[in-house]
Amino acid sequence: FAVTWDVSTASKGGYDHFMLKEIHEQPQTIRDTLRGRVSDTNQVMFPELKLSREQLLNFNRIVIVACGTAYHAGMVAKHFYEALLRRPVEVSVASEFRYSDPIVDQHTLAIIISQSGETADTLAALREAKVKGATTLAVVNVVGSSIARESDEVIYTYAGPEISVASTKAYTTQLIALYLVGLYIAEQENRLGPTVVAGYVELLKALPAQVAQVLKLGPEIKELAQGLSKSSSFFFLGRGFDYAVAMEAALKLKEVSYIHAEAYAAGEMKHGPLALVEPGVTVVCFATQSALYDKMLSNVKEITARDGGAVALVKDGDEGLDTRSVDSVLRIPSTHDWFMPILAIVPMQMLAYYIAAALGREIDQPRNLAKSVTVE
Ligand code: G6P
Repeated sequence: FAVTWDVSTASKGGYDHFMLKEIHEQPQTIRDTLRGRVSDTNQVMFPELKLSREQLLNFNRIVIVACGTAYHAGMVAKHFYEALLRRPVEVSVASEFRYSDPIVDQHTLAIIISQSGETADTLAALREAKVKGATTLAVVNVVGSSIARESDEVIYTYAGPEISVASTKAYTTQLIALYLVGLYIAEQENRLGPTVVAGYVELLKALPAQVAQVLKLGPEIKELAQGLSKSSSFFFLGRGFDYAVAMEAALKLKEVSYIHAEAYAAGEMKHGPLALVEPGVTVVCFATQSALYDKMLSNVKEITARDGGAVALVKDGDEGLDTRSVDSVLRIPSTHDWFMPILAIVPMQMLAYYIAAALGREIDQPRNLAKSVTVE
């Protein structure tokens, strides 16, 4: 009889790394973050918010401030809030915001996003927004953290402890919380009627099962990663919501694999970066946004014409992109375009993980990086 496990492997729940375990926890953490926030009739409830309807109507702009992955969640929220609330939304990285004499006043809602609730720049940005009179709403994972304590309002994500330095489940739960906040404001302002809200909530509630579907792509992505791990560099291209996801996908890959990766708004490629595309460079093209689909197709052609390796991420049933036009296609379930980022990032988290694994990287604790950056 031999003991074949130790405490650290046991807490990884049978996975080789915390990152992979946390990727697989997402159906549950998304469910946990929705729980208690949606009613039986599929309306959005935030018992924890003290904001009145009058206060919500008083905001003429929203600023979103965060660092790293949380900043990328804010990019998705910007697209969503502008579409839904028709109000200007600015997203800033906290280290820029705090020193830029930001245009913020008592008519501003400042949304601060942080997994740890302790990031020094984000905390300083929160304080700056408060001093200037904004109402602050923090989306935080760690209960009782500094940002949670100092913010006027707090919405917790229920991701549970995230150990891997590269954030995965915190990001998707941040998106869920941010989507709910948008729907809540729209509902309070009577921008959306109860039936429309219920329709969106229904789609959010379907996401855990859809994420579980995406996770089944694991073996396919692992195989793809073997070949892609030889790439010298990566581009991640998208438009609109897909561009926001591309930024997070590029960050994941660079954090854990150490391969150079950049995200670009697909339409910008021909204004410079296309010069870098050659054999050995892999370009991942996101094509999950219906209105921008044809534009993405022409961007894909620009890549393949230069002999860059092309991987496409498309919705199930997509007929425009297949292995005749690109080297590989990853097919994911479909939902409203607004909510596609949740389904689109999961295969990219897995891709980053398996490329890093193929290269023998540390993965859970990449060189030079810290889970929580509490210095400037
Ligand atoms: C560090 C972590 C990232 C994280 C960022 C912001 O750089 O390595 O994963 O996204 O900090 O952290 P926060 O806790 O504020 O979300």
